Amino acid sequence: NWSMNDFIGLQIDQIREEVGDKKVILGLSGGVDSSVTGVLLNKAIGDQLTCIFVDHGLLRKNEVKEVMDSLEGKFGLNIIQVDASQRFLDKLKGVTDPEQKRKIIGNEFIEVFNEEALKLKDVDFLAQGTLYTDVIESGTNTAETIKSHHNVGGLPEDLQFKLIEPVRSLFKDETRRLGEEMGMPDYLVWRQPFPGPGLGIRVIGEVTEDKLQIVRDSDFILRREIAAAGLDKDIWQYFTILPGFRSVGVMGDGRTYDYTIAIRAVNSIDGMTADFAQIPWDVLSDISTKITNEVDGVNRVVYDITSKPPSTIEWE
Ligand code: XMP
Repeated sequence: NWSMNDFIGLQIDQIREEVGDKKVILGLSGGVDSSVTGVLLNKAIGDQLTCIFVDHGLLRKNEVKEVMDSLEGKFGLNIIQVDASQRFLDKLKGVTDPEQKRKIIGNEFIEVFNEEALKLKDVDFLAQGTLYTDVIESGTNTAETIKSHHNVGGLPEDLQFKLIEPVRSLFKDETRRLGEEMGMPDYLVWRQPFPGPGLGIRVIGEVTEDKLQIVRDSDFILRREIAAAGLDKDIWQYFTILPGFRSVGVMGDGRTYDYTIAIRAVNSIDGMTADFAQIPWDVLSDISTKITNEVDGVNRVVYDITSKPPSTIEWE
């Protein structure tokens, strides 16, 4: 693709010109935008870029490893991986309100990121994977409207960086093409939307390690089976939810009293409205059997057949 190649070359020149011999930091979330931004910056300035990847413990199964294997392993990005899962769990203890959970996760994320950023010396630039859509949505003064992947807050006063946003002229599909052009793998480039608060808002009510494990394992099985059925590029977003109540079941000769897992799968253009996906019964049936067989503590699987509106896509 000649035009994308031109874009890459032009951006690299521009980044080099702007950054000079200074240092840049970038927060990686595992999402498409920040990953593509990281790979592009790395092409332009190599070791002058340091990425901070905060693992809040609310990511999907294998996600941290996939991001690290690819971005650090294959593309050679300089990444500081911070395992902050326990911190997030502690902060979320006893908290049940969805918005409260979002706030806590967002604030804690910024705090961990800042702590790491402050340890680095002589950093001049903060890079962000801001897209054209974000620029439009956040109004005129984009330099001051910091996009965090949690949609909260901004930067504290003591971190005075210059912003660098190399993909801010691109739409999502162009960013994906840019990623592909640079040789990034499908699982990074074609990621389905994933909320900043992650699995934290897919465990309804209080987030505990046990419940995270159940939602993470069931989500993994769902994704595996959707891919096996060849539907992964046909459904816009799909995931599991742990509503948190128990119900009665039978297993062998015994009675169980275990959790229910809900499956959510929707088609949408922009997430503003959505229709529940009409997954074939046999695929759903397989998914149900596999989740109840493979995930301890689950004895029932339900399928969410509501569209948005009146429902939202996420349950919290
Ligand atoms: P809802 O649940 O509002 O979701 O219908 C619409 C889309 O937005 C995602 N979503 C979020 N993304 N932070 C995010 O970065 C959030 O707090 C958040 N809540 C929802 C959701 O996954 C869907 O794609």
